[in-house]
Amino acid sequence: VGKIDDVQELRKTKTSSIPERFVRDSTERPALCPVITTNNNIPVIDISKLLKPNNDEFHYEIMKLSAACEEWGFFQVINHGIDLAVVENIEKMAMEFFMLPLEEKQKYPMIPGTVQGYGQAFIFSEDQKLDWCNMFALALEPHHMRNLKLWPTKPSNFSETLEEYSREVRKFCKNLLKYIAKSLGLNANLFEDMFGVAVQAVRMNYYPVCPRPDLVLGLSPHSDGSALTVLQQRKGSSVGLQILKDNKWVSVQPIPDALVINIGDTIEVLSNGRYKSVEHRAVANKEKDRLSIVTFYAPSYEIELAPLPELIYEKNPPKYRRYNHGEYSKHYITNKLQGKKTLEFVKLK
Ligand code: SIN
Ligand code: FE2
Repeated sequence: VGKIDDVQELRKTKTSSIPERFVRDSTERPALCPVITTNNNIPVIDISKLLKPNNDEFHYEIMKLSAACEEWGFFQVINHGIDLAVVENIEKMAMEFFMLPLEEKQKYPMIPGTVQGYGQAFIFSEDQKLDWCNMFALALEPHHMRNLKLWPTKPSNFSETLEEYSREVRKFCKNLLKYIAKSLGLNANLFEDMFGVAVQAVRMNYYPVCPRPDLVLGLSPHSDGSALTVLQQRKGSSVGLQILKDNKWVSVQPIPDALVINIGDTIEVLSNGRYKSVEHRAVANKEKDRLSIVTFYAPSYEIELAPLPELIYEKNPPKYRRYNHGEYSKHYITNKLQGKKTLEFVKLK
């Protein structure tokens, strides 16, 4: 990615014309797709109601969670228990990083075929369209996946801020997976026991203001290759995330201090399609920039996955084949983002 392909640098030139590389084919342009923007559209789960198991409140919230995963694949969580100071610190730190001069950020270039470093991921050909977004991504767990050469020295508190945040999000994911297992009628520890040392990665997305949001996409449509994804966005950001529901794009209106959670491909497969890994995208905005911080939580790469026998019965035969999660992840990151196409790789015809 050269200077001209960096959206923040493009912004600095104050030009109102969008380079060809970012202009989407007419069928992909966001303005031409119907968008629903009603408030509080995706379900909201209150984690504080799940702390005391086996009372009415608990069962009701688990039911809500189950419906959210089946019908939306997306929900927001309130009272998630992650210290708000930790959340604010990472947002501040991420903004400081993105505001560094390009030369500084390019010391940590995105290595093609991986999702680590600064730049644009999932780009494999010259004629592929680019997203109106700058990304900075790092693998966090297990430890041996870390590429420490890509951990920035500026801002100076980068590593400790990211470590602290990631520890909290990891704890949160482990708990949420227990509730998700419960909501499927499974043993609460099933996912944790199965996943081994879970893979965790972070991706920070910075979407600068765009003079023509009708022509570009902030992030191409895709489903996530993870088990769970945890998304937060900086307060005061523009609205940008959209999810595909009944063939219409629905704009997610973030609740302040809530996290947006989505089911990834792993849970779709394990639940044999009962819980949905839903296609989503991000759009750009004319007035306000946007920062999102996204954590991917997934099984260890050694793990073999297949629909859970507990969820298979005569009228519901397996929809996906058995496969190795490391192989799936490799397939995911070496192909361009294209809706739910990656899941085809393991779908039984
Ligand atoms: C993502 O799908 O990874 C993030 C989209 C967003 O920035 O909301
Ligand atoms: Fe995503």
